[in-house]
Amino acid sequence: MEQSELRARLARAGQDHLLRFLPELSRAEQRALSEELRGMDFEELGRFFRRAMESGDAGQDKVDARMEPVPRQVLGSATRDRDQLHDWEQRGLHHISQSKVAVLLLAGGQGTRLGVSYPKGMYDVGLPSHKTLFQIQAERILKLQQLAEKEHGTKCVIPWYIMTSGRTIESTKEFFLKHKYFGLKKENVVFFQQGMLPAMGFDGKILLEEKSKVSMAPDGNGGLYRALGAHGIMEDMEKRGIGSIHVYCVDNILVKVADPRFIGFCIRKGADCGAKVVEKTNPTEPVGVVCRVDGVYQVVEYSEISLATAQKRSPDGRLLFNAGNIANHYFTVAFLRDVVNTYEPQLQHHVAQKKIPHVDVVSGRLLQPDKPNGIKMEKFVFDIFQFAKKFVVYEVLREDEFSPLKNADSQNGKDNPTTARHALMSLHHCWVLNAGGHFVDENGTRIPAIPRFTNGRPDAIRADVNDNLKDANDLPIQCEISPLVSYGGEGLEQYVKNREFRAPLIIDENGVHELVKNGV
Ligand code: UTP
Repeated sequence: MEQSELRARLARAGQDHLLRFLPELSRAEQRALSEELRGMDFEELGRFFRRAMESGDAGQDKVDARMEPVPRQVLGSATRDRDQLHDWEQRGLHHISQSKVAVLLLAGGQGTRLGVSYPKGMYDVGLPSHKTLFQIQAERILKLQQLAEKEHGTKCVIPWYIMTSGRTIESTKEFFLKHKYFGLKKENVVFFQQGMLPAMGFDGKILLEEKSKVSMAPDGNGGLYRALGAHGIMEDMEKRGIGSIHVYCVDNILVKVADPRFIGFCIRKGADCGAKVVEKTNPTEPVGVVCRVDGVYQVVEYSEISLATAQKRSPDGRLLFNAGNIANHYFTVAFLRDVVNTYEPQLQHHVAQKKIPHVDVVSGRLLQPDKPNGIKMEKFVFDIFQFAKKFVVYEVLREDEFSPLKNADSQNGKDNPTTARHALMSLHHCWVLNAGGHFVDENGTRIPAIPRFTNGRPDAIRADVNDNLKDANDLPIQCEISPLVSYGGEGLEQYVKNREFRAPLIIDENGVHELVKNGV
């Protein structure tokens, strides 16, 4: 395309300011900018912008009146359906053993709040082992393959599809290469890249990050569906004979990748789409809830409902809208195929108002706004629930399965490296107690564990995060169990039963390590 043609296209779309600084740029910069702009479909972008802005204006009290909670018949619960957990787990493990289950990681985010320059999966939250999020997840996959193989006597593979963005793909790939794919086979780890969209002012004008560069951001975790189509990922899944996919976010340190119980539950229910949730207990917690609106399943964000609706309670005392979304989903390949081929264009972008640094097209100066000056457009991974023929919800305990890493330690007391580290060590502490082990303090006195009761039934011995705050520094007991040793607390008796330990304790593939006793 000639430069004049590009200029004409930009003028027609009302975006000709993007070439404003062209004469000041070097040849290489001119080429790069023109190239970038030629690859953009301005008509489509204009459509996205108008639809996103219109839907952002929808009245909110309408949603309140149209909402219904998830009915019990589509709900499975890790605490209230205990008698079925074994069956679900067996069903899931069987499916895994036949190499029919894949995991799909959403790792294309920018991690702005955490504030590191590298992909979030490479973050070390400061566990005794200093494992990164990627390594923890890789080792859980490895362990689950082993468990399924042991149970069913067949070799199996859980392929790992990793969605990155233009900003994270190279460093993510390099990291995996450097760490030899954490013991997984290279051919079973498939990277693909999601799309990017330009940031725009409230008037629909595309913003420049530099005079020679458009301000681009990933198109949201719902960019998944377009990316699956664009990179032939569905074909890869079908070639491998995959039937079910577990989709999850990179930042949840407790994530049970390809959780056999969740998968087994969805299969038993004949579902094509499922969401794992945790109970929302505090009405003002800013978490989206899974519910029905006009009979159709969706996630309603906290900001879309009134406080009165958020505070409503059921007769059992729980919040009426309590199915807290943790972006942890089950899809059949057939459903995903339909979404990619048919429904994806119907998904609307959500608008996030942001403070977007940009070059002022009049003065040419770089502006750092102190209030939102434009929008980024994102699709959300959960926006496809509406297309499911059979949608189910599986509720798990937050302290067992959900602790996201969103913020830096310095910013906020919530969802940061410290809370992630503590959540993992608290869970592993409980696993040791449940397997018959004990912790003693520096005087050799046993540290008491407070049993936790769930629905009136003892949940073995469970000390939750707060119960673990024993010492003066309010730190949890330092205990870390390698996923290569245990996926979900199983198989630990041989290491810990009737033994006493002093923290920090690490159990890994080389055995049991008490760091103090060993003088480490
Ligand atoms: P968040 O919405 O929490 O975003 O992503 P983030 O990028 O991690 O952090 P902030 O908001 O910039 O601070 C939830 C999950 O969705 C993925 C993220 O990688 C994370 O696993 N995600 C988000 C994508 O894969 N692509 C996107 O465009 C956005």
